[in-house]
Amino acid sequence: MRISLSEGAWNKSTADIVAIAVASGKTRLARALGRIEAVTGKGSVKPLASDERFEGKPAQRLKVAAAGPIKARWLLLVGIGDEKDAEKIAWEMGHAVASIARAQKSAALELPEVTPESVRAASQGLMMGAYRYTQYKSDKATATTIGSAVLLGAPKGARGLTSAIRAGKAIAESINFARDLVNAPPNDLNPVTLARAATRESKKLGLSCRIWNKARIEREGMNLLLAVNKGSAIEPRVIHVVYKPSRPKKKVVFVGKGLTFDAGGLCIKPAASMVDMKCDMAGSAATLGIVFAAARLKLPVEVHAVVGSTENMTGAKAYRPGDVYKSREGKTVEVINTDAEGRLVLADVLSWAVKKLKPDYMIDHATLTGACIVALGPYRAALYTDDDKLAAAYLDAAKGEGESFWRMPLDKELRSMLKSPIADLKHIGGRYGGSITAALFLKEFVDETTWMHLDIAGPAFVDRAHGRLPKGGTGFGVATGVRFLEALK
Ligand code: BES
Ligand code: MN
Ligand code: ZN
Repeated sequence: MRISLSEGAWNKSTADIVAIAVASGKTRLARALGRIEAVTGKGSVKPLASDERFEGKPAQRLKVAAAGPIKARWLLLVGIGDEKDAEKIAWEMGHAVASIARAQKSAALELPEVTPESVRAASQGLMMGAYRYTQYKSDKATATTIGSAVLLGAPKGARGLTSAIRAGKAIAESINFARDLVNAPPNDLNPVTLARAATRESKKLGLSCRIWNKARIEREGMNLLLAVNKGSAIEPRVIHVVYKPSRPKKKVVFVGKGLTFDAGGLCIKPAASMVDMKCDMAGSAATLGIVFAAARLKLPVEVHAVVGSTENMTGAKAYRPGDVYKSREGKTVEVINTDAEGRLVLADVLSWAVKKLKPDYMIDHATLTGACIVALGPYRAALYTDDDKLAAAYLDAAKGEGESFWRMPLDKELRSMLKSPIADLKHIGGRYGGSITAALFLKEFVDETTWMHLDIAGPAFVDRAHGRLPKGGTGFGVATGVRFLEALK
């Protein structure tokens, strides 16, 4: 998408569709609509708004055929309620116009404020709203959107606006990359092709990308990852992408769960729970999205993405409940339910990353538990860490990006639920606190490293569009991860 700046006003724009923010509340609404009608003619907007019950509330949109002497064909009124944050408003406007546009090819946005922050947010919103997954549609014309956008009212020569556009686009491109991976069907996206996708994108950005095949994973002693892989006809992969600037402030390692399909293994899932299980690699998609965004933005932080990838299937060699395996770290693990595979894959990857990469922070993203969705609903992710400062920094970053996390307790008392009669550990607890005991299991493999676990099982993939999340793969986690990295000192 081409995004450019203009000094012009909305009523002179020649774009197909012009987005204007409208606040709620009687007087503010009347004033905003009056200001438009002063140009487009009395009665051209207000009756329609009242017919459609458009009151300028958040998430309300009104598309109006433009009347009067203006050149644009459509106006899009974007309800913003009483939102004051110019950055949030800019994102909403960009997102609204790009997601609503079909036949319109060009858009203009009248941002309430034109600053580097709002220009970046508008650009990011535009590109996120323009996202369509058409890979497998024969008729791609059914899902088009705008190809160019103009941000109006930009003072000539204002500093930092062009680079703000670039930054917003870079982040959105990384989010949309993650969405594409999650939406890809599991017959085409498997551990081998996921690794290829990571390699291809790394090459484009000049990053190092190491891929481990099964033999290499065996040499590393990642027996938990290998156990999960046993029932699959496709080899597992470990993917390691590195972005390393000169004189980095910190080293942050992101780890991702990369189950390209989770049938549950021998403890097989019922059909209704299995149908969307291509999304079980969303943690790896977020992890890759973050390292690619960091590279695009040239952040002064060393960022690693480490992904453990396999399918969880039911082949004749599949691992069983009752099996005991020795983890890469050394602890032995008794398998209870083969559908709790994610923590096994992550355990081996986390322990490797701790030992070999020695990060300042290690953060994993994983669609780890249904219990997490039961606890927090479908749109919010769980955040687990013992480090209060890290939690606060992450929650702050999330707020800026409109992503929802909730800090959950790493309750030590529940650790006893992971005791095994025959091995060092059982890999699941009981019926209660399933998201917490999963996090406690991971904690066994991170040693003293400052670590955070993000259970994104809910928001990684959603049934219907909600807030900033599109239907299907959402790219959840990328935006917050990037903003966290940017704020690092
Ligand atoms: N991939 C699932 C978790 C999941 C559920 C992700 C729904 C996205 C949407 C995970 O591997 C799983 O199956 N977890 C089990 C664990 C249980 C067997 C202890 C679960 O949550 O039911
Ligand atoms: Mn599972
Ligand atoms: Zn899973």
